[in-house]
Amino acid sequence: MSSEAMAAVRSLVWPVCLVGAMEDGRHNVMTAAWISQVSHNPLLVMVSIAPGRFTHDMIVRTGEFMISILSAEQQEVSNFCGSRSGRDVDKIAQLQLKTEPAKVIRVPRISGCVANLECRLVSRHTAGDHTLFIGEVVAADTAGAEKQPLVMYRGKTVKFC
Ligand SMILES: Cc1cc2nc3c(=O)[nH]c(=O)nc-3n(C[C@H](O)[C@H](O)[C@H](O)COP(=O)(O)O)c2cc1C
Repeated sequence: MSSEAMAAVRSLVWPVCLVGAMEDGRHNVMTAAWISQVSHNPLLVMVSIAPGRFTHDMIVRTGEFMISILSAEQQEVSNFCGSRSGRDVDKIAQLQLKTEPAKVIRVPRISGCVANLECRLVSRHTAGDHTLFIGEVVAADTAGAEKQPLVMYRGKTVKFC
């Protein structure tokens, strides 16, 4: 792919989120930016995850995931959860992230974010070197709706606006 094509694609703006999964009592989160709404009715969202991520197979096996939209103050959370694997470290314990039980799924919510979306996996599709996980939003909170979200633009995480 040409570097101009790469630069153009990186001009898309992505929301920086944590994607959480829970299996056998083990809760893991990873940073993900390739996330979008893909349907109104039913309310569906998509997250694109590389097969090598620890989170990937947790979602495949459990059929559930949490999307926690990070705020502009959570840059360090994004950096840490996007550069360490849950295979090697308990990211939630290391960062002392506060969690709350979800309403419908088993994966806990992350406190202090812009919003939490509880997703039940409805399908998955291979797309090049990533897997697209399509989830139905079965419950959510907007507790931090007044917070500014963290976004990814041209390879950097920055404040929205
Ligand atoms: C800002 C940012 C955005 C990221 N977006 C994605 C993404 O959309 N999909 C993906 O597979 N990895 C993405 N990553 C990389 C994963 O977060 C990283 O590989 C992480 O360590 C995987 O954790 P795990 O092995 O515990 O699942 C991103 C990293 C950062 C810092």
